[in-house]
Amino acid sequence: MRLVVFFVGILVLTFVHHSLCIATNVRNPDATKSTVEIIRSRGYLCTVYHVTTDDGYILELHRIGLSSGRPVLLQHGLLSTDVDWITNPAGQSLGFRLADMGYDVYLSNSRGNTYSRRHVRLDPKEEAYWNFSYDEMGLYDVPANVEFILNLTRQPKLIYIGHSMGAAMFYIATASRPELNHKIDLMIGLAPVASMAHFNSPVKALAPHVDAIQFFLRATRTRAFLAKENWSRRFQKSVCQHTFKTIQLCQNVIFYITGTDRENFNSSVLSVIEGHFPGGTSVNTLAQFAQGYNTGKREGEQFRAYDHGPSENLRRYGVTQPPSYNLSLVTAPVYLFWGAGDLLASPKDIEWLSKQLGNLQSSVKVDWPEFNHLDFLWGVNSNRLLYDPLIAFPKLVHLWIFPEDS
Ligand SMILES: *[C@@H]1O[C@H](CO)[C@@H](O)[C@H](O)[C@H]1NC(C)=O
Ligand SMILES: *[C@@H]1O[C@H](CO)[C@@H](O)[C@H](O)[C@H]1NC(C)=O
Ligand SMILES: *[C@@H]1O[C@H](CO)[C@@H](O)[C@H](O)[C@H]1NC(C)=O
Ligand SMILES: *[C@@H]1O[C@H](CO)[C@@H](O)[C@H](O)[C@H]1NC(C)=O
Ligand SMILES: *[C@@H]1O[C@H](CO)[C@@H](O)[C@H](O)[C@H]1NC(C)=O
Repeated sequence: MRLVVFFVGILVLTFVHHSLCIATNVRNPDATKSTVEIIRSRGYLCTVYHVTTDDGYILELHRIGLSSGRPVLLQHGLLSTDVDWITNPAGQSLGFRLADMGYDVYLSNSRGNTYSRRHVRLDPKEEAYWNFSYDEMGLYDVPANVEFILNLTRQPKLIYIGHSMGAAMFYIATASRPELNHKIDLMIGLAPVASMAHFNSPVKALAPHVDAIQFFLRATRTRAFLAKENWSRRFQKSVCQHTFKTIQLCQNVIFYITGTDRENFNSSVLSVIEGHFPGGTSVNTLAQFAQGYNTGKREGEQFRAYDHGPSENLRRYGVTQPPSYNLSLVTAPVYLFWGAGDLLASPKDIEWLSKQLGNLQSSVKVDWPEFNHLDFLWGVNSNRLLYDPLIAFPKLVHLWIFPEDS
């Protein structure tokens, strides 16, 4: 029986992954370009920095332009890369819009993704390299990037914008290292993730089997999940047909997982997703989401550190159960933007998060009933529905324009 669960689980995961594969007959030249190439092709300067974390991961940071304005750090979500912020047409990508407004824009990349797959000592071919979950992204990657940017720009604070897991990483960072809060002007969470209790995507059916799936993956020595250049990707390329039907299928699979918003979907985005997604992450990172879903409905267990199992927990945390992050220690001013049609960062979980945060300024529902998880990055109407209001948001304007007075 357990074996059946393994294989069904793996099959479903594989299906979900390969269905994200996408027809490229709607050609988008960005599909085959790197983030740096896209930024330069749009006529902006791009500088590449390498930031080393306290635990030795070497992260790539991309800067748009050379502004001396207030620094803004944009952090992508699960399985993704910083390409998320710059592939919408000119004037409709948050990364370029902020640069156009005079901000000094930095795009960060989580450990293990396409651009940040290096370490001072470990090789990504070694299992030990992939020995992380999003705890470490919060504990090490976020502080390293923030410190690096502030040191480079000689500014006292920056603005942090995180999509999905990019928000979770911020909460972990600032709850665990409260002094970091003083280096943040404001934090904007787009489709922010913390509690997964009401995660409503059909992939949640896999969550209860996370231990079995992990066991299987470990047995097959798979520690990195969906890393970009591996077998799964070649398979993905081979099964994808360039037909209208496939586009429909791929689109429907994406809707199935993230929420349906046809009107707001530009099918040209499919080829960008195909070219860049997944950016790769560790199996443990995905497992942590599943753990969050499994324990999320239990009071006090909504947003916890990674569960390594009782004995390793005892060694690491001093207790057999993983500790919860105390979100009241997130004292930087936080603004949340969320979508009613988002199956991954569901409205009920946002409501919980907004009650926990230590310094919530506002929680804003995007004014579009179907707004889903990916619309925050690629929605056709995101400019009008999200970026314009975000930039002009009454309580934010003061901080955007006169941040030093805040
Ligand atoms: C869809 O994306 C393509 C490629 O980025 C762009 O040229 C086109 O203007 C977009 N359509 C809309 C409606 O935004
Ligand atoms: C992962 O890290 C933990 C503690 O840092 C260590 O005990 C464990 O052996 C590591 N696993 C691998 C495969 O390196
Ligand atoms: C801070 O920046 C200076 C150069 O401006 C550099 O020499 C130094 O290594 C940096 N420190 C850190 C911690 O990045
Ligand atoms: C993953 O891709 C890298 C780079 O192409 C390759 O060296 C490695 O062997 C691949 N791993 C597996 C399990 O196929
Ligand atoms: C969380 O932190 C606040 C502020 O330090 C403290 O008052 C509260 O007791 C903490 N909550 C838990 C569950 O530890």
